[in-house]
Amino acid sequence: MLKVLSGVRPTGDMHLGNYLGAFKAWVEDQYSYDAFYCVVDLHALAEEINPEVLRDRTLKTALTLLAVGLDPSKCTLFIQSHVPAHAEMSWLLSCVATYGELGRMTQFKDKSHGKDTVRVGLYTYPVLMASDILLYQAQRVPVGHDQKQHLELTRDIAMRFNNKYGEVFTIPTAFVPKVGARVMDLQDPTAKMSKSSNNSSGIIYVLEDPSSIEKKIKRAVTDTNSDVIYDPKSRPGVSNLLELLGAATDSKPEDLAPKYQNYGSLKLDTSKAVIEMLDPIRQRVKDLEKDLGEVHRIIAAGAQKAAESANATLERAKEAMGLLS
Ligand code: TRP
Repeated sequence: MLKVLSGVRPTGDMHLGNYLGAFKAWVEDQYSYDAFYCVVDLHALAEEINPEVLRDRTLKTALTLLAVGLDPSKCTLFIQSHVPAHAEMSWLLSCVATYGELGRMTQFKDKSHGKDTVRVGLYTYPVLMASDILLYQAQRVPVGHDQKQHLELTRDIAMRFNNKYGEVFTIPTAFVPKVGARVMDLQDPTAKMSKSSNNSSGIIYVLEDPSSIEKKIKRAVTDTNSDVIYDPKSRPGVSNLLELLGAATDSKPEDLAPKYQNYGSLKLDTSKAVIEMLDPIRQRVKDLEKDLGEVHRIIAAGAQKAAESANATLERAKEAMGLLS
C-alpha cells in the first residue's frame, strides 16, 4: 500500500476552508493508503505561542481530526513531539539542506519580513517538515498551495541525500486536494477563508454553534445584483454561498443556482445544510471530550506505531551518513 503523510499546525480552530479543502481528503485517503497524520506541535514553536495555548490546541486539533472522521483503526494519528525521531532527523537534514535554499522559501520571507528578531526555527521550519515526510517514506503528501515550495525543497533534499549517501529516502509527491478548495471568506469573497484573517465574521468554524453559523451566513457579503448566478469571477459572494451549499449537499454549485430566485432563500438553505453537515462533528467532539482518556490512548498508540516506521528510517540515515552505531 502506498504511504500518505500530512501534518497540521495546532495554531487555530479548524474552519470550513480547512475541512473541505484538506481534512475531508485526509479522511478519504485513510481507506486507500497507509496513512500517517501528525499534529505538528514542534512547528508551532517557530512562532510566538503561549505554552498553555499550545498544549490545549494540540489536544483540540487531535480531537477535531478524530471527530471529522479519522479512524485510528485505519490511519496513524500522532503528535509530532511524541516521536523524537522528527527532531533528530531534522538535524541530519539541516546538514544536507543549504542556507541559500532555505532563504529562498517564500513562507520564510513573508513571515520574517520587517521583524527585528526572527527565530532560527522559522528559518529551518522546512527542514523539520522534510523530516516529517521522509521519515515515513511517504509517496503522497496532501498540502495546501502555500506549502508546495516546501515539498519541492523536500524532494531536493531527499535526492541530494540519496546521491551523496545512498538510497535511503522515497521521493515524495505533493498532492493539492481539489474538493471544495475554493471556500472563500464570507465578508471578503475574493480572499480564501483563512485563519490569518483578522475578521472572524467571515469564517465558519467546524465546531461553531448553529446560531452563530446562521448569523454569519445571513450577513455574508453578496453582490450588487440580486439574481442567483454561479460565476466566481464576476459574482464571488453568491458563488461562494453556492459553493458551500454544494459542498454540504454533495452537489454542483452550477446546478444549484437555477433553483434560487433570491439571496434570502439561498442563504437560508446554505446555513441549514452547513449546520446539518457540522452537527455530527460537534456531537462527536462533545463525546470525545467526555472520554479524554480514550483520546490519550489513541495518540499514544499512534506515536508508538509512527515511531516504528520513523526509527527504521532514522537508523538507515544515520548509518548512511557515517554515525557510529
Ligand atoms: N507546514 C505545513 C502547513 O503549515 C504543516 C506541515 C508540517 C506538513 N509538516 C508537514 C504538511 C508534513 C505536510 C507534510 O500547512
